[in-house]
Amino acid sequence: MAKLLETIDLVTNFHTYEGIVNALNKVSLFADHGVTFGLVGESGCGKSVFVRSVMRIVQEPGMIEGGKVILFPDKKETKTAVNLLDQSEAYMESLRGDLISMIFQEPNAALNPIMSIGEQVAESFLFHRKQEMCRKIAEELDSSECRTIPLLRHFQKSVYQIAEKNPDAFVLKLLSRIPVLKRWEKRLIQEAMDRSAEIIGKLGIPNPEDILRSYPHNLSGGMKQRIVIAIALACSPILLIADEATSNLDVTIQAQILEMLRQLKHTEISSILFITHDLGVVAEICDRVGVMYAGNLCEVADVRDIFRSPRHPYTYALLSSVPRLFQEGELQSIEGSVPNLISPPSGCRFHPRCPRAGDICREKLPELEEVGNNHYVACWKI
Ligand SMILES: Nc1ncnc2c1ncn2[C@@H]1O[C@H](COP(=O)(O)OP(=O)(O)O)[C@@H](O)[C@H]1O
Ligand SMILES: [Mg+2]
Repeated sequence: MAKLLETIDLVTNFHTYEGIVNALNKVSLFADHGVTFGLVGESGCGKSVFVRSVMRIVQEPGMIEGGKVILFPDKKETKTAVNLLDQSEAYMESLRGDLISMIFQEPNAALNPIMSIGEQVAESFLFHRKQEMCRKIAEELDSSECRTIPLLRHFQKSVYQIAEKNPDAFVLKLLSRIPVLKRWEKRLIQEAMDRSAEIIGKLGIPNPEDILRSYPHNLSGGMKQRIVIAIALACSPILLIADEATSNLDVTIQAQILEMLRQLKHTEISSILFITHDLGVVAEICDRVGVMYAGNLCEVADVRDIFRSPRHPYTYALLSSVPRLFQEGELQSIEGSVPNLISPPSGCRFHPRCPRAGDICREKLPELEEVGNNHYVACWKI
């Protein structure tokens, strides 16, 4: 397996009037290429702050104050690895939505209410895949109607070449005002629309052409979330980050979207970082799982091992709070709540709620250690 993303001792704090909220307390985690990695934990454990830190979009008054976020874009060549925290804002802007796409809980926030669905999905293709589309159109040229007018064909072809190398060239914008080249622009837009219909079809939406003509307010929540996923996939990211992306949907729609992501996993997306507070969702879709508690990562293992042999008392408690079909006795809920991260508990942050806690747990923060089978646990009492 080749690493895709690794964080080392990542620290993010929010400087509020009440004090410093230590939302990430040295989080070290890695995810491999080709894997669906689930990050779970109760609300307020730092899952969203983690992904926002990775993408460097932490909201004010938050600041990333330590550690590294290393991206390995090429699975064969580890030398191309970059520490995202050292990169310029311009680099991050090109990374977001290009190599890495993110989808959130609320599709309305990601969609523009006054643009048609077609325009929005096509825009994503035009923005991220323009060069590839220009190349395709240039190749088609030879068999086009311009064959009969060689001069025009040469002229058009050189415009395509400029477009391919530098899609946002000023020259190109000027040239595209020439009437005969308007046709070229039309063709590019048509190509983007065709690809939009294709990806929408792949997301299991019937009559993609009709959907392209509709507006966000015409669609249901589940449908809108699929469109957001289509927009995210249009840029063929190496990593799709989904932060509670299905949490607002009803269970049947959620199940359909998970199934769809699972299918796309083999064709359109290579790796997914799936953030959820729902262990049922994790069981459905994830290969590997990280469990977070109060800004710390407490356990990382393959999904099977998390469910069959959880080792951290917090993971154990989370699992006991999930209803099961043949459950005997009462459903356990975890006593207490996630602590305030302005003055978190000393030592292991879970100790006040932990049935196994002893003196050392109150004094020292345990680090993640391998307990075999690529299974890591941060606990003094295992
Ligand atoms: N803008 C903010 N200002 C202050 N504290 C924040 C802010 N955003 C998040 N936090 C704190 O960071 C911690 C982690 O939050 P979050 O990552 O949103 O949790 P999760 O996504 O796991 O539900 C929480 O204690 C939360 O109060
Ligand atoms: Mg969250």
